[in-house]
Amino acid sequence: MAEYLVELYVAQGDHVAAQHHVALAEQAGADLAREGRAVRFLRSIFVPEDDTCFLLFEADSAALVTEAVGRAGLRLEHVSAATTSVAGAQESPADTTKGTSMTSTTTSSTTSSSSTTSGTGPDLKELRDKQQKVWSSGDYNKIAALTVPVSEHLVDHVGVGPTDRVLDVATGTGHVALAAARRSAESVGIDYVPALLDIARRRAEAEDLVVELAEADAEHLPYDDASFDVVLSAIGVMFAADHDAAGRELVRVTRPGGRIGLASWTPEGFVGGMLRTVGAHVSPPPGAQPATRWGTEEVVAGLLGEGVTDVSSVTATVRQRFTDAAEFADLFLTWYGPTYAAAGRLDDEGRAALRADLVALAESHDRGEGGGLVCDWEYRIVTATRR
Ligand SMILES: C[S@@+](CC[C@H](N)C(=O)[O-])C[C@H]1O[C@@H](n2cnc3c(N)ncnc32)[C@H](O)[C@@H]1O
Repeated sequence: MAEYLVELYVAQGDHVAAQHHVALAEQAGADLAREGRAVRFLRSIFVPEDDTCFLLFEADSAALVTEAVGRAGLRLEHVSAATTSVAGAQESPADTTKGTSMTSTTTSSTTSSSSTTSGTGPDLKELRDKQQKVWSSGDYNKIAALTVPVSEHLVDHVGVGPTDRVLDVATGTGHVALAAARRSAESVGIDYVPALLDIARRRAEAEDLVVELAEADAEHLPYDDASFDVVLSAIGVMFAADHDAAGRELVRVTRPGGRIGLASWTPEGFVGGMLRTVGAHVSPPPGAQPATRWGTEEVVAGLLGEGVTDVSSVTATVRQRFTDAAEFADLFLTWYGPTYAAAGRLDDEGRAALRADLVALAESHDRGEGGGLVCDWEYRIVTATRR
């Protein structure tokens, strides 16, 4: 495969928009690769002074790169063969830059996004262990209340009733498992962070609900095949290290005719932007795939595979209110595992830069209604029926 360089225009040197473009291009490349097409996103370089973002792909043809960029919904200025590989922002990527000054730093941090890496591939066990530590850090319970409406929506959308045995994968503090129990279902929740399960237990007790809670890994569910009528996950399974294994497990434990419902942040929404912002400051571990892939119906359909039918999706938002953008940034830097862990790997200057970008992101989403920061966080619910 040869390397190709794509040039995109980014209005007013907008860092966040550049990161967004990069994530979309990366995802489109990964999706095409999953379909067996010979294309791979390699890395990006953002040149704010020139309002330009370069994307480097490896592919069989320029046409395939154009297809990837088109699928990402981006308008490219040029695609051209790259004659040298770009090892860093200081290096000229190719003779196609035509005098563009390559003095800025790259905004991309997720260049090794695909688990379908050739050769030995990433160590997904090691990645899973790292991510388990990340979710055990901070205090997710301080954030969890923000997504209660997402779980209630998921359970209603899928339609859980008293005769259903329901599994909530990556239950955290139990939102979906509790919502299912409130609808008189037989409810089971699993997560790999015991401290969060303890909170879920206390919440069930406080509401006098029966919920079975177990420490387990979404990638290796400790249940027999076809043992649940409904398998759900809200903003949970999307964070598994091995997306393919997690998808297979969801299908395996659902009975034929049973339903699967997954709510995930979208790549293009607020949280997608937040995760990319964090990734621009601290590179994700090797092999980590963007969690927000699960916010795309086609990707989930691919992950669930042949074992399901009737895949469909709805997109919705959950409204969030903060005193101001700084309150949002500090809340997430202090308590939300992924941002807290990333901030811990930066020096004071790096942390301040990350905080400033989080504040800018939040401000860019403010609905401008006054009375504090009000923003809508987009998620997508993908549902499917087990064959
Ligand atoms: C953003 S929280 C969402 C929790 C909960 N579903 C909710 O709606 O509040 C993500 C959760 O996924 C869990 N998680 C991520 N990967 C997991 C895995 N492989 N196995 C079990 N739990 C996992 C984390 O421990 C964390 O509780």
